[in-house]
Amino acid sequence: MTGTGAAQRTYRYLQLIFFLVTLIARVDPAAAQTAETVCIQCHGSQPGRLGAPVREWQTSIHAANGISCHNCHGGDPTDVAMAMSPERGFLGVPNERAIPGFCGRCHVGVQEDYLASAHGRALGKGGPQCVTCHGNHAVLNASPDLINPKDCSRCHDYGRAGEIKSAVLETDRRITELERQLLSLRHIGIATREMEGELFALRNRFHRLFHSVDVEKVRSQTAGFQTELGKISGRIAEVEAKLNRRKLWGGAMVVLLVGCGILSLLIYRSYREEIDRSQHP
Ligand code: HEC
Ligand code: HEC
Ligand code: HEC
Ligand code: HEC
Ligand code: HEC
Repeated sequence: MTGTGAAQRTYRYLQLIFFLVTLIARVDPAAAQTAETVCIQCHGSQPGRLGAPVREWQTSIHAANGISCHNCHGGDPTDVAMAMSPERGFLGVPNERAIPGFCGRCHVGVQEDYLASAHGRALGKGGPQCVTCHGNHAVLNASPDLINPKDCSRCHDYGRAGEIKSAVLETDRRITELERQLLSLRHIGIATREMEGELFALRNRFHRLFHSVDVEKVRSQTAGFQTELGKISGRIAEVEAKLNRRKLWGGAMVVLLVGCGILSLLIYRSYREEIDRSQHP
């Protein structure tokens, strides 16, 4: 008996420890984004073009995902004296032609599609590269809003740019809508992690397709993406139907309980009347 009691207690402690560990693990990405490296400390106090990157980077999607100065530029983020030494892997500032390879260390698929495109073929000869469209330090979440007459008619007319925008827009709206639906399911406590993971991978695969700047290619692959999105959409609909059935049963139970309440009240009343009558004939 005491043996199982002790086992139960140990189990509880293990559960508590597990809970605390998951809590810390959840907090960790936030800790990573604010980690003060020597790069941030020193550059943050520099004026002009040396300090500006820190302020621009702070609100970027890279900062939010723990990608810091040294992840892009290399170097040693823990050693003030040797921080920018090539011996510690410092890469410096990439020139125009080197930028796709610089960003492509992490965005492999995007780089591949970009290099094979009309833009990639014009690299160093007036074509745009990653930083032309996304910026260098203030990189934000990618969306079709990046395709607009102001940014896309600097080098050629907007015609073909507009066509590729309408080709991606419909699928992109559907992805955003599914993201919203999954979020509201998560808010009421439904486990959506697996579906969210699938959707995120699909979203990234679709967004990388833009870099081909090939309207025909985007159009021909859209059907495949729509089919896969349809599958996720179907699973969301299933979960929602189940929730609605549960709500319906809940409603029926309430009606049943209220009915029982009224019935017992009526029985009680007639019983009282019976007693009253027998006491005061
Ligand atoms: C003690 C201050 C200090 C630290 C620490 C420091 N930097 Fe610098 N950084 C500078 C100064 C000053 C310059 C400009 C002069 C130069 O290029 O040496 C500079 C230049 C740069 C440049 C531009 C180089 C160029 O060719 O124009 C980059 C990129 C850079 N730093 C990134 C980093 C990264 C990444 C780290 C951390 C791994 C870091 N720095 C750490 C002070 C610092
Ligand atoms: C996502 C990758 C990335 C991150 C993260 C990043 N940089 Fe850069 N940085 C670049 C690129 C690319 C360039 C060259 C941009 C260009 O040619 O327009 C650059 C240029 C610079 C320059 C030269 C600016 C100039 O005007 O000459 C400095 C200094 C610099 N970065 C410092 C930093 C510091 C400090 C951090 C951390 C707060 C940082 N960078 C984070 C990609 C990055
Ligand atoms: C050390 C790895 C690394 C390097 C180098 C890097 N990135 Fe990123 N980037 C990430 C991570 C991690 C994310 C966040 C996860 C995601 O959305 O894919 C991200 C996100 C992005 C996004 C948003 C994607 C989205 O989902 O909407 C863009 C755009 C982007 N990076 C552009 C660039 C550009 C441009 C460069 C070069 C100047 C660059 N990145 C260099 C790791 C990197
Ligand atoms: C001509 C402008 C342009 C150029 C050049 C460009 N991008 Fe993009 N990028 C976009 C647009 C627009 C989107 C969003 C497309 C969409 O919403 O379907 C995007 C999406 C992305 C994404 C999100 C997709 C994903 O897989 O997470 C990343 C990351 C990214 N770009 C990185 C890069 C990198 C790295 C380069 C250079 C090799 C680059 N981009 C070159 C305009 C550009
Ligand atoms: C820095 C200059 C520059 C910018 C900015 C630019 N482009 Fe281009 N674009 C080019 C060059 C160069 C070519 C190749 C020559 C041509 O076809 O005109 C090209 C070609 C294209 C093509 C034709 C591809 C083909 O195979 O026929 C499309 C579509 C396109 N760009 C879309 C865009 C979009 C969308 C944007 C904005 C997000 C944009 N471009 C921004 C320079 C640019």
